[in-house]
Formats: sequence, structure tokens, C-alpha cells
Amino acid sequence: MKTLPTIDALPDVQGKRVLVRASLNVPLLHGNVSDETRLRANLPTIKVLQERGAKIILLGHLGREGESLRVVADALAKYVPVTFINTAYDAPETMQGIDALSDGEIVMLENVRRDEREEKNDPQYAASMAALADYFVIDAFADAHREHASVTGIAKILPTVFGLSFMQEYNALLLVVEPKSPSLAIIGGAKFDTKTPLIKALAKKYTHVFIGGALINDVYKARGYEIGKSVASLGAIDPEILALPNLVVPFDVRIQEASGEVVQDDATEILPDAMVVDIGQRSFAELAEYIDTAVTIVWNGPLGYYEGGFDTFTKECAKRIAANTHATTIVGGGDTLAAIEETGTAAAFTHLSTAGGAMLTFLETGTLPVIDLVTEDLA
Ligand code: 3PG
Repeated sequence: MKTLPTIDALPDVQGKRVLVRASLNVPLLHGNVSDETRLRANLPTIKVLQERGAKIILLGHLGREGESLRVVADALAKYVPVTFINTAYDAPETMQGIDALSDGEIVMLENVRRDEREEKNDPQYAASMAALADYFVIDAFADAHREHASVTGIAKILPTVFGLSFMQEYNALLLVVEPKSPSLAIIGGAKFDTKTPLIKALAKKYTHVFIGGALINDVYKARGYEIGKSVASLGAIDPEILALPNLVVPFDVRIQEASGEVVQDDATEILPDAMVVDIGQRSFAELAEYIDTAVTIVWNGPLGYYEGGFDTFTKECAKRIAANTHATTIVGGGDTLAAIEETGTAAAFTHLSTAGGAMLTFLETGTLPVIDLVTEDLA
């Protein structure tokens, strides 16, 4: 386990400019922020920096199309006063706006992904952001798997520490990186090809690794079953996955037939014009046994075709895990959290992660690129 520098390691920041890589990538609906969970996660770090008299500069990304962060600044302004600055980072107006801040005041800068150099981790682009501040705080755990200019790029230049939300995520996820037995990992969603290393890593540490969502279609395909119109990855599955003794693949499923009717049957009985939409009742019963006996449970990704409204066993799974009060239970991923929210079970979980992809990377590797970078600097 690595010891990470936190905001307590910062020197006196009174009157200093502190750049915070914040978690601003929130869902939008009709142009407005539809879920403020990630935004609220930034508040503890912001408040501590305010109390210490720092000039706070919030930096982050939104979406994949360079959407403006103005709407996010407006949403955050319900919690703390924040001024939005939309000029380029190296424009004189940007520095003037920051210099004009009183101690404890906050600005948010425009979406870092408006410039293609962000995702290329361009050192000059990182330098243009780093030049605005004296210190760097990484608080966006959800974005910390990205080796982008506003994450690792700035961390290479400025003295860097991790914020309170980041540390909360880190400490919680450490509990599932080294699980106590009996343990259960539940991985749903899609894209088997990207999740293969994760599933292999989990299978080494967990008593059972249960897969759901579109991932199961890849296994059925590899076994030579008909999968009809079900979603699957394009490539062939890694044969080592099929040989994992503790990988649990649902053996019955809910199937939407061409008529629209949803039936339940063995996974070997899918018709060419049908589509798998959820796991089946008998497979859920098997999963429920593992849930009831596990002392460590980690879950990321819905068990069925959640966006299509097929949420039955994802919600049943949420309720069943919530009922296991003796386990450490850690969950992440947008749809998975939505199911927990809808079943009113959120308070029963040990930790609900704001992260999706970053949680999976952390589970797979036990670290994140920016953690390695910052802790190497300390070594
Ligand atoms: C997320 O939503 O998982 C993070 O904010 C990272 O976003 P990205 O996948 O667009 O990099």
C-alpha cells in the first residue's frame, strides 16, 4: 500500500493559487446537470482550501464533445460561490481573473477537453495550466485513470497532493483490492475485450467472479451457443477466461423474442432473432447464495440490458447485497448506482464509488498512473 500525500501535506496556502483537478464530468439532461453526486464530492476539499485562504481554481472535463462547463459551474454555485472563466488558459484575462480573487474565492475554468492536446497529454498544454497555480490537488478519482495533460501532465510540473474525495475513494477501494474471503466480484456491462485483464486479475483474488450484462454473450458465443441479436464484443474471447474455475457465468437468461415477448430459458436456447436482456431466475438464485455468504463484495456494471429498461435482476442484486450487513460492500458505475438509488438501498453499502472506468483500472492494477507518478516523486 502506498502512502499518498494529502492536502494536509500542503504548506500554508493562504493567498496561494491552488489548482484542483475536480470531478466535473456529470450527466446532463436537456442541457442541465441531472445528477450532482460527483459535484458534491468536490465540496469537502473546496471547503478546506477555502478555510485555509487559498485562491481556488477548478479544472475538469465534461463529456466527450468539448461541452461547456458553464452549466456545471452554475450547478456548483448552488453550494459554493464560483465564477466561471471561459478564456484560454494562457490568455492574459485568465490570469487576471485569478489574480483578482480574494483568499478563499473560487473560479472554474472551461473544459480541458476543448483542446485536443489534453488527451494527447501534451506537455506544453499541461504547462499552460500549471502556470496558473502554485500547487495542484487531484480530487477527481473518477478521472484519475487518464494519462491526460490535466491529470498526469500537471502533476509532473506542480507540487501535487490528493484531495479528500480522492482519498475517500482510494481508501475504500483498497478494501476490495485485497478482499477478505469468502469474496465475490460481480462485473456486468459490456466490452469483454476491455475487461479481460480485470476479470483475470479478480479471479486470482476472489472466491467467485460472477459476470452479467452483455459480457455473458461473449462467453456463450465462445461456447458455440446461438446469441441471436444480443450485444457482444467483436473479437474472440481469451481462452484463459473460459478456463477460470471460479468464473461464474449465468446458465439461464431472460430473452426478448422477435415478438417482443420476454421469456426465461437456458442460455443454450436462444433463437437467432432473439436477444438476451437479463440473467435468469435460477442464475440469480446462485448469485444470491454467494452474496449471502461473502464478507467482501465488489460490484460494477448492470446484470441486464439496463438502458433498455431490463433492470429486474440488477435491482434484485442491489437489494440482496444491501441485506448482507456483515460484508464490506463497494459498488461503482453509473447504471449500477442508479439501480441502488432506485431501490432505496444506498445507505446499506460500505462505499458507493463515483468512479466507473477508474474503479475498474484500480481493481485491476491496484494503482492509477497519477498515483504512481506522484508517489515516485516522493520516493
Ligand atoms: C467517467 O465518467 O468515467 C470519468 O469522468 C472519465 O470520463 P472519460 O471516460 O470521458 O475519460
